[in-house]
Amino acid sequence: MRPVFIIRLSAIRRMIEELDLTSAEHLKRLKEFSLLEHPPSFRYFKNRVFEEAVKTHKITILYSAEDKKDVAYAHIDIDGPTKRPFFGICVLPEYQSKGIGKLLTNHMLQRFSETVYLTVDNDNIHAVSLYKKFGFEQVESYSKSGLWRRVALP
Ligand SMILES: CC(C)(COP(=O)(O)OP(=O)(O)OC[C@H]1O[C@@H](n2cnc3c(N)ncnc32)[C@H](O)[C@@H]1OP(=O)(O)O)[C@@H](O)C(=O)NCCC(=O)NCCS
Repeated sequence: MRPVFIIRLSAIRRMIEELDLTSAEHLKRLKEFSLLEHPPSFRYFKNRVFEEAVKTHKITILYSAEDKKDVAYAHIDIDGPTKRPFFGICVLPEYQSKGIGKLLTNHMLQRFSETVYLTVDNDNIHAVSLYKKFGFEQVESYSKSGLWRRVALP
C-alpha cells in the first residue's frame, strides 16, 4: 500500500507548476486561464488589467489536470496601496472539493513564509473553511467581505 501512496502523491505534485512570468509561454498560459469564466467569488482578473496585475506577482501557480488543461490557479501578489502580500486562489467549479485548494494553499504557504493577507466574501463558506485550516484569521470586516491575515511563524 505504502509505495502506491507515494507514487500518487508525486504524480499530484507534478501537476503544480510555478510560473516564470518572464517566459512568453507561461504568460500565455496564465492569460488563457485569466480569460476563462471564473466563479463569481473570484473577481481578481475581472477587476484588473492583466498586464498590470502580473507585474505585482511574487509567486504564481497553475495546476493542470491529466489532460494538461489548467484547472486551478493561485498567486501571491503585492497590493499597490498597502504593499502587503495578498494570496488569491481559484479552482474551476468541476474540480472543486477534490483537495486541489488545500494542495495549492499548502504549496504557496511553504514557499512564502511571510505574513500574508487575503480578502474573502463573508458568504464564501467554502473558501473561509479552507483559509481557517491554514491559520488565517479575520482582522477587518467590511459590508460583504473581510480582510484575513496569516501571521508568519517566528
Ligand atoms: C475556495 C476554493 C479555492 C477551495 O478549493 P477546493 O479545491 O474546492 O477545496 P478543497 O477540496 O481543497 O477543500 C478545502 C476545504 O474546503 C472545505 N470544503 C470543501 N468542499 C466544500 C464544499 N462543497 N462546501 C463547503 N466547504 C467545502 C473543507 O473544509 C475542505 O477541507 P477538508 O477537505 O479538510 O474538509 C475553491 O472552491 C474555489 O476556487 N472557489 C471559487 C473561487 C473562490 O471563491 N476563490 C477564493 C476567493 S477569496
